[in-house]
Amino acid sequence: MKHFSSIITQWYRANKRDLPWRNTNDAYLIWLSEIILQQTRVDQGMAYYLKFAREFPTVKHLAEAENDTVMKLWQGLGYYSRARNLHTAAKMVNADFKGKFPSEYAEILSLKGVGEYTAAAISSFAFNKPHAVVDGNVYRVLARVFGIETPIDSTTGKKEFNALANELLDKKDPGTHNQAIMEFGAMMCKPVNPDCPVCPMKNHCYAFAKKVVAELPVKSKKTKVRNRYFNYIVLDHKGSTVINKREAKDIWTNLYDFPLLETEMELQEEEFLKSAGWKKLLGKNKFTIRSVSPYYKHILSHQKIFARFWEIETEAVLEKIIPANAIVIKQKDLEKYAVPRLIENYLEVRKKPVKKTLTLF
Ligand code: ADE
Repeated sequence: MKHFSSIITQWYRANKRDLPWRNTNDAYLIWLSEIILQQTRVDQGMAYYLKFAREFPTVKHLAEAENDTVMKLWQGLGYYSRARNLHTAAKMVNADFKGKFPSEYAEILSLKGVGEYTAAAISSFAFNKPHAVVDGNVYRVLARVFGIETPIDSTTGKKEFNALANELLDKKDPGTHNQAIMEFGAMMCKPVNPDCPVCPMKNHCYAFAKKVVAELPVKSKKTKVRNRYFNYIVLDHKGSTVINKREAKDIWTNLYDFPLLETEMELQEEEFLKSAGWKKLLGKNKFTIRSVSPYYKHILSHQKIFARFWEIETEAVLEKIIPANAIVIKQKDLEKYAVPRLIENYLEVRKKPVKKTLTLF
C-alpha cells in the first residue's frame, strides 16, 4: 500500500500524546523509556521514567549507582530482570563506550536487555536510522490492515511481519514513522473494541472489510500458567524481623522477601503446621501465631501465586534460627528494601488499622 506511512504519520501528528521521551534526542533517556515501557503501560511507566531520569540524569549516574538503589526505584513495576539488565547495560556503556551511548544498531543490540525491537526504537528515535520497530502494536496493526493470518509467535510470522514493517518504513523519517505506527496501535487499533468507524485506515483495512478485526492477529500458543502456593513467615522478635535477598534461580532475583515455605498445593493451616519446612524453620523454638492472612493472589505472566502471610512472634533470638542467607532487620526499616509488589501489597494492608480475623494459638 502506497499511503500506509503517510496515513499513520498524519494521524500521529494530529493525535499523539505529548510524552517526555518524545521531546528528546538523548539516546540514554530514550533507552530508559523503552526499557520501562516494555510490558508496562504508558500511564504506569511515566512516573518511573520521571523518577529515573531525575535520579540518574546520565548513563554515568546510573552506572555508578548501587544495585539496591536501582531495584528500590524500580519497585512495583514488575519484570525485575529489566532493572538488573538496565543497570548492567549502563555499566557496559560506561566501560565499553566511554560513557557515550552507542549509535550503531549492532552496538545498541549488544547491550544487556536490548532486543531487536528496542534497538530499532533507539536507533530510529535517537539517530533517525532506518530500522522498523516490530512490537505487539505493530503486529496487530499489520495483521489487521494486511489480513495476515500467520501466527505472530511463530518463526515464519516474525520474519514475515519484520519484512513487511521494513518495507513500509518511511526511510526519510523512520523515527516519526515508528512512533506513529506504535501510537496508532496503542490508541486507535486497540486489541479490543477498536474504534473502526473513525479510523483513517478503514478504507484500506482487510480486517475491517472482512469483519475479522477481533480474529487478528493470530497467536499459536497459549501461555501455560502454573499455580504456586507461598507461605511467608513474618517473624517478630521485639520489633525485629527476618528478610531474604532472593537468588537467581527463581522469580524476583535480588529483591527481598520474608522466609518462604512453598507447598505443592493448597494446605489447610493444620496440615501446613505439620510440614517439614515449618518444623525446620521454627524447630523447637517457642512461638505464637499472631495471625494468618487470607490468600493474596498475584498474577505473573507464567505463574499464579497464592500467598499467605503467617505473622509469628517468637522469643527465639532471630539470628540463631534464620536460614543461611537471611538478615535480621527492624520492622520499621522494611520500607527501605526493594520488595516484590506482592509483599508491598501485604505491607500496605498491614499498615492500615483494619479489623482482621486473628487465628490465635
Ligand atoms: N511503548 C513503547 N515505546 C513507546 C513509546 N516510545 N511511546 C509510547 N509508548 C511506547
